[in-house]
Amino acid sequence: MASLKEELQQEIGKRRTFAIISHPDAGKTTLTEKLLLYGGAIHLAGSIKSRKTQRHAVSDWMEIEKQRGISVTSSVLQFDYDGCRINILDTPGHQDFSEDTYRTLMAVDSAVMIIDVAKGVEAQTKKLFRVCKQRNIPIFTFVNKLDRFGKAPLDLMDEIETVLGIRSYPMNWPIGVDGKYMGVYDRQKKRVELFAEDSTHGQEERVSEIFAPDAPEMIERIGQDAYDALQDDIALLDEAGEGFDLEKVAAGELTPMFFGSAMTNFGVQNFLEEYIRLAPPPAPRNSSDGKIEPDDERFSAFVFKIQANMNPAHRDRLAFIRICSGKFERNMSVWHNKSAKDIKLAQPQQFLAQDRQIIDTAYPGDIVGLFDPGIFGIGDTICDDAHKFSFEDFPVFPPEKFARVQAKDTMKRKQFVKGIEQLTQEGAIQLFQQAGAGTESYIVGTVGTLQFEVLEYRLKNEYNVDIILQMQPFEVARWMAFEDGSEVTPAALRGADRGMFVYDRKQNPVLLVNNEWALGWITDNNPKLQLNQVPFDRAVVGTGGK
Ligand code: G4P
Repeated sequence: MASLKEELQQEIGKRRTFAIISHPDAGKTTLTEKLLLYGGAIHLAGSIKSRKTQRHAVSDWMEIEKQRGISVTSSVLQFDYDGCRINILDTPGHQDFSEDTYRTLMAVDSAVMIIDVAKGVEAQTKKLFRVCKQRNIPIFTFVNKLDRFGKAPLDLMDEIETVLGIRSYPMNWPIGVDGKYMGVYDRQKKRVELFAEDSTHGQEERVSEIFAPDAPEMIERIGQDAYDALQDDIALLDEAGEGFDLEKVAAGELTPMFFGSAMTNFGVQNFLEEYIRLAPPPAPRNSSDGKIEPDDERFSAFVFKIQANMNPAHRDRLAFIRICSGKFERNMSVWHNKSAKDIKLAQPQQFLAQDRQIIDTAYPGDIVGLFDPGIFGIGDTICDDAHKFSFEDFPVFPPEKFARVQAKDTMKRKQFVKGIEQLTQEGAIQLFQQAGAGTESYIVGTVGTLQFEVLEYRLKNEYNVDIILQMQPFEVARWMAFEDGSEVTPAALRGADRGMFVYDRKQNPVLLVNNEWALGWITDNNPKLQLNQVPFDRAVVGTGGK
């Protein structure tokens, strides 16, 4: 019988855990469905309900939230393909949820970036790409919608390099002239794949037509001009292009680039197979006790997402953990770093399309949903009692929008506090209390305005509380400390009334101000004051240009 170490090594080698990043409409939902289709997880693509409304407006988001079961189960998908276990973590498309996306990206080992062949690199893709880059994870590019008119592939490569600062290696190459594509040339297998006629609109798996690179029948079909152009392009890529270097891919310096069409299934299977071959299995993670290797027999995981009230009938709350080392077993006892207590992991769940399943075992790279009695927070570590440590804290986004929030009906204060605490633990909002003010209202900070609408909606729908929400004019928050360690109070701070003096959840002093100019005045007049965009013990997410 294999030892635990051997078992772990075998299972880890099979795991591929990734997220798909893209600008809304590039085809993330469609590609996800198609990957599942090839994985045999669903038999007819389209059985995951269309979430296309999710990305556009808050009303649509709320509509989706009414069907939480769907949006949540599709947020972590697992399937097997060719001996590998694939975990796909969904990321919200709307930019106001970039913090959620960021956390999800903390839990993956690689990312797939989808680019619309006609649109090239778009705003949201740029932002998400930067986050991946910060983590130095490998990024695979899927240029989608090849069935439509699109930009020239060489221009797209150029755009990726100049806009994102990463070089690309085309794994296949579109065939056709003037952006009217007929298929691709596979550079690895040295063969031509042409679009097969598809009358089902990609609803069923279809096989492309394959030809030798010089097959007369193929040349006749695509036309001599397209064939000649292809020959020229391939020669150019082989001679002048970047060579393929897996080490550069692993370091996030080179992105393997695939052309295809998710809707018509063209190039999807090939992409999946190459992705499995080239993408890395779970890697070691930094912790307070150095690097934790995935094949360390001692179990460890961290919480990257918390979602409450997914099932309105049960009002449950799930903490999603990413396993980093060891073997997960149902009912195991683990040590939780934040409470410094042992806890038992009962009723763990895994997700496959729309079914939630109770699971017994899981391995590094896997995502498990745990019923959470309200003890977990984002970034918490759970690990073997015999080897206590903490993974690095998640970096955080500085809040940029602020509002005063209180319950309309003071009799509902209890539910109000419960709801607002819940959303804070989920990481959707940051909570502050104004210095000297009563406890009937809070100051809520977020990274985007949509969060306030979500807050209002969820408090109403999940806690039956109507709120009064007054937007505040502040745009900047600064955590404060004096160099000499003395306490920062409204009285000790010169110009405290130029902004709002508040305390965060841990009673750290924070100043909210309108703009950098006001901040400059405060700095000039308080020479011993130290300021930070986020709590002093946390790192900031360097999204830049937000
Ligand atoms: P997203 O999750 O990234 O936001 O994109 P999604 O998959 O929802 O795709 C956005 C739109 O692009 C959809 O059209 C989808 O059908 C279409 N699409 C995705 N892949 C391809 C492709 O390879 N080729 C072409 N031509 N279109 C593609 P829609 O009209 O918004 O929705 P639907 O009516 O098709 O469902």
